[in-house]
Amino acid sequence: MHVPLLDIKAQLDPLNDEIMAAIKETVDSTRYILGPQMESFEKNVARYCGTKDGIGMSSGTDALLASLMALGIGPGDLVLTTPYTFFATMGSILRLGAEPVFADIDPDTYNIDPAKVADLLSDISLKDKIKAIMPVHLFGQCADMDPLLEMAGRLDIPVVEDAAQAIGSSYPSMKDNNLQWRRAGSMGDCGCFSFFPSKNLGGMGDGGMVVTSDERLADWLRVVRVHGDITQYHHVVVGGNFRLDAMQAAILDVKLRHLHKWHSARRRNAAHYKELFQQAGLVNAGYVQLPHAVYEDQAAAEKDIDFHIYNQYVIRVPDRDKLKNFLLEQSIGVAVYYPIPLHKQNCVADLGVSRMSMPHAEKAAVETLALPIYPELTGEMREYVVERIRSFYES
Ligand SMILES: Cc1ncc(COP(=O)(O)O)c(C=O)c1O
Repeated sequence: MHVPLLDIKAQLDPLNDEIMAAIKETVDSTRYILGPQMESFEKNVARYCGTKDGIGMSSGTDALLASLMALGIGPGDLVLTTPYTFFATMGSILRLGAEPVFADIDPDTYNIDPAKVADLLSDISLKDKIKAIMPVHLFGQCADMDPLLEMAGRLDIPVVEDAAQAIGSSYPSMKDNNLQWRRAGSMGDCGCFSFFPSKNLGGMGDGGMVVTSDERLADWLRVVRVHGDITQYHHVVVGGNFRLDAMQAAILDVKLRHLHKWHSARRRNAAHYKELFQQAGLVNAGYVQLPHAVYEDQAAAEKDIDFHIYNQYVIRVPDRDKLKNFLLEQSIGVAVYYPIPLHKQNCVADLGVSRMSMPHAEKAAVETLALPIYPELTGEMREYVVERIRSFYES
């Protein structure tokens, strides 16, 4: 049996007519730059996330870059983030001449550990230089935002959520002792999404967005998005061409209507994997550590909360690389996110971060493996994946 890591075609086939109609409408409109398609999609994403504004961007990377630009981050500044994420999180900081400073991850969730953030923020040599905090909601589960927002608020440091993998993921915030589910991207000063095709909301090319409820920041983001142009040919800052393509916006607007259904299917697949791995005895035997959806219990009392959107379903295993090769040979698509933590990347070898010790990120980099989790994955396919993993460890 062939089980791909992702099957975009299976998702698109039932949407074909809707998407073709949206593409035709965009073509006929002849408004390909900053047109009505993009504005409609911006409004719909902002409403979905619970923010005032959405600003379409050319990619998740550019959403992060534009956010840091709009916040005035530059040379001499430090941005506090996680070492265990996609490169763009750190790349956006370095491209502005700023430097990253890393807080290690919580080994249970792979997200930034608020206790480690607290240590860095109380370090007298760093404190005044940290000009932004950038938590990443890795694999589709929100970082523990309440303590991060509390610390950032107390020190007046802006928070940019890298929510590239987490659109729609909800966090149980306990503001003023009231439980409030807040969507990824809506909690910090702004939140950044990627519409890379493999994301839960994926386009047919590159795309991204920043959401925010800070009107001033939204205005700046719109300026930064068009080369810092405030009125035609009057440039107040150096920005870039960071605009979201109208065609992508039209396609994504169609797909947004189906997003919650896909999130639910991914959660159903995760629940089934859990059952299968437990039945196979792989969890008790210590071979497979399942992903921990830390907000699941709180969500149980309510209906249909996207407490984890499983952009990736990541297990922790011994002999990871051998298992990976074995599964690939069996025609099962698996992947490693991420084999090298950011502080170990060659491009930062000359920076202070390369000497930092991040034991949890370093361990995760050699032990984790992503399995297929896409919505259309069948029960039979999940059974096959688990059966093959069982045969690997029991042979
Ligand atoms: C955590 C994270 N940040 C940023 C990005 C960058 O997004 P894009 O590929 O749309 O530039 C990604 C995309 O893979 C990501 O996973």
